[in-house]
Amino acid sequence: MTTIFLFLYLLLISTATATATTLYSDVSALKAIKAAIDPTTIPSYSCLASWNFTSDPCSNHHVTHFLCGLSCSGNRVTQLTFDRAGYVGTLSPLVSKLTQLITIDISDNKLSGPIPASLFSLPNLQTLNLRSNSFSGTIPPAISNLKSIQAIEISHNSLSGSLPDTLSLLTLTRLDLSFNKFTGPIPKLPKTLIELAVKSNSLSGYLPKTSFNGLTQLEVVELSDNSLTGTIPGWFLLQQSLQQVNLANNGFTGIEISKPIDSNLIAVDVGYNKIVGNIPVNLSAYPVLSSLSLRYNNLYGPIPPEFSQKATLKRLFLDGNYLSGLPPKEFFSGKSSVSGSLGDNCLKSCPISSELCLKSQKPSSICQQAYGAKGKPKS
Ligand SMILES: *[C@@H]1O[C@H](CO)[C@@H](O)[C@H](O)[C@H]1NC(C)=O
Ligand SMILES: *[C@@H]1O[C@H](CO)[C@@H](O)[C@H](O)[C@H]1NC(C)=O
Repeated sequence: MTTIFLFLYLLLISTATATATTLYSDVSALKAIKAAIDPTTIPSYSCLASWNFTSDPCSNHHVTHFLCGLSCSGNRVTQLTFDRAGYVGTLSPLVSKLTQLITIDISDNKLSGPIPASLFSLPNLQTLNLRSNSFSGTIPPAISNLKSIQAIEISHNSLSGSLPDTLSLLTLTRLDLSFNKFTGPIPKLPKTLIELAVKSNSLSGYLPKTSFNGLTQLEVVELSDNSLTGTIPGWFLLQQSLQQVNLANNGFTGIEISKPIDSNLIAVDVGYNKIVGNIPVNLSAYPVLSSLSLRYNNLYGPIPPEFSQKATLKRLFLDGNYLSGLPPKEFFSGKSSVSGSLGDNCLKSCPISSELCLKSQKPSSICQQAYGAKGKPKS
């Protein structure tokens, strides 16, 4: 008995490796995926045009059929990678039958409709890239069923609704949801996150500590062009692994900066907010800070000399505020290699020979009005 079973087993294995006959349910899923694309938008040179089901998708003798758009391991499809051919259509829910999928990359096409909910049950999916399509609808809480996911990129689509807190259950290192229509607060985030980008949406509320708790690998935060409010809290820039932070063009009204013990922060952009106060001098204590923008806020008072003496600082944008007094002369001594702008402020004697002062200062009438009769800023 056992020998017969062993014989049958060996026979099965050898036929599978010799011809790699694709699992039937994978073939039918691929057929459904192609059928969900408008055939008039499948150019003859494209990957999908080469999907001709008279041959077997995973067989490795392709000369004319299944030239690209998928990869297999044995008799299972592991990657779905469309070319940028401008395919119009939807993503078939039967994609979930491809249970060995590791990668979906159908970026830069014209697929629309919702992201099929069944997709979130794929147990082995590591990379989901739907960037630059026209997907709409929401991200459901069931996204947390993607147990192997590492990177989600769905920027430049039309997704809406609020982001589910279940995102925090994922083992994600990279999340890019920029250029959609998401609303509501910043959700709890995955602790494994290295890069967070939700630029150009309509997120609101403040920066919640609970969302960022325990994110010890977070390097990049890109939340510009939203409707975030409140004070940028002191703990935020103290997150030790942070390198780049962009919170520009929101509605922040304040910023708290504590001196760091250790920090990898290289670039901070909080321009185009409504931050009232003095320039936070503690920013100059960040050891490798190289690029800083506080432009177009409501900052007043002098520019602390610490910034002109900071060797790591290469770009400094302070324009569009109500900064007053004499700018630190080290900026213009020839030793400083800082570029940027100090223009559109209330500074005295900003030398126009310096690139930093190319943009002119505010008219004195506006500055007098801003500082009131006693020389103190009105709020
Ligand atoms: C698929 O391939 C077969 C055999 O090579 C060919 O006869 C048929 O026209 C092809 N179908 C399409 C839609 O290209
Ligand atoms: C600067 O940092 C120190 C130490 O973290 C803190 O005590 C102080 O309040 C900060 N100054 C400002 C103006 O925020």
